Amino acid sequence: MIYSKVVGTGSALPGEPVTNDDLVARGIDTTDSWIMERTGIRARHLAGEGVTSSQLGAQAARKALEAAGCAAADVDLIIVATSTPDQVFPSTACLVQSALGVSGFPAFDVQAVCSGFVYALTIADKFIRSGSHRRALVIGAEVFSRIIDWNDRRTCVLFGDGAGAVLLEASDSPGLLATSLRADGSQHEILEVPGNIRNGHFEGSPFVHMDGSAVFKLAVRVLGEVAVEVLEQAGLAPDQLDWLIPHQANIRILQATAKRLHLPFEKLVVTVDRHGNTSAASVPLALDTAVRDGRVKPGQYVMLQGVGGGFTWGAALLRM
Ligand code: UT7
Repeated sequence: MIYSKVVGTGSALPGEPVTNDDLVARGIDTTDSWIMERTGIRARHLAGEGVTSSQLGAQAARKALEAAGCAAADVDLIIVATSTPDQVFPSTACLVQSALGVSGFPAFDVQAVCSGFVYALTIADKFIRSGSHRRALVIGAEVFSRIIDWNDRRTCVLFGDGAGAVLLEASDSPGLLATSLRADGSQHEILEVPGNIRNGHFEGSPFVHMDGSAVFKLAVRVLGEVAVEVLEQAGLAPDQLDWLIPHQANIRILQATAKRLHLPFEKLVVTVDRHGNTSAASVPLALDTAVRDGRVKPGQYVMLQGVGGGFTWGAALLRM
């Protein structure tokens, strides 16, 4: 039996943290206390002019390779989850492949917004389990600040930029124990960028539109459901989980999911306070943070969860 296992993690954050008070100083009509109370966000990183998702993704990938003691030449698959690609095409994954100085094997993007990393990880797991590929770089990379309307205080305070990556390798022992991906396209309007390039012009809106309250309620429900589902698939009880790493959108959503599983809050990995919501990058960024600060250790059970536009959601249960 072939399993896939995380053998290295890495991440990249652009520039210095931008605090809530920095946003106020930049003229945004908000307060540190409003943002903290509603979301738990204290700061986020914002990419400077010219910084792209592929650059951040390649930085994170290099660190994951280094952590695993592997070279880029050892990789035979790259999947990038992003909603903020460098270009319409080619894929950000192809640009990352080029930046790493390798070629010849498949590289492609996955678009599932904030669930993107869990989608990409699940796809890579299936490639590895089939025996066709042995070592996959799975990356979530975003410059979400570029698709935010900085005049809309309901959304601009929530998001940040960054990238996270894992190296997933074929192994005799698990590894990824259970995965579940879900979508409900009928809910596409509650979180969207309703625009596109047509005939040389941008049509619609280039900015994130969100019905925050509808997203909040749906996210809490589906994250609870999918957590129970993957635990049952893997035959594990909630109290066997060592760490829960949900999409980092809002501290209240994270706490509601932990409560639903009767998990103590200490088992939650929280980075939303420092990173804001980095969409597809949030889960691998949080995983890498907890691996590097020594909380997540080999042999432990970790649940990753994504939720976001589409509407999409999913979870992956893994043994580190
Ligand atoms: O990755 C995708 C996932 N996205 C999410 O998970 C987001 C989920 N939703 C949420 O986290 C919450 O809905 C928000 C944090 C976005 C908003 O919290 P809320 O409690 O739903 O606030 P609201 O939109 O109902 O706004 C309440 C009030 C309004 O004022 P009035 O109409 O009551 O006078 C807003 O104008 O707060 C006001 N407001 C702000 N005030 C200061 C909205 N944004 C801000 C702001 N600063 N940044």
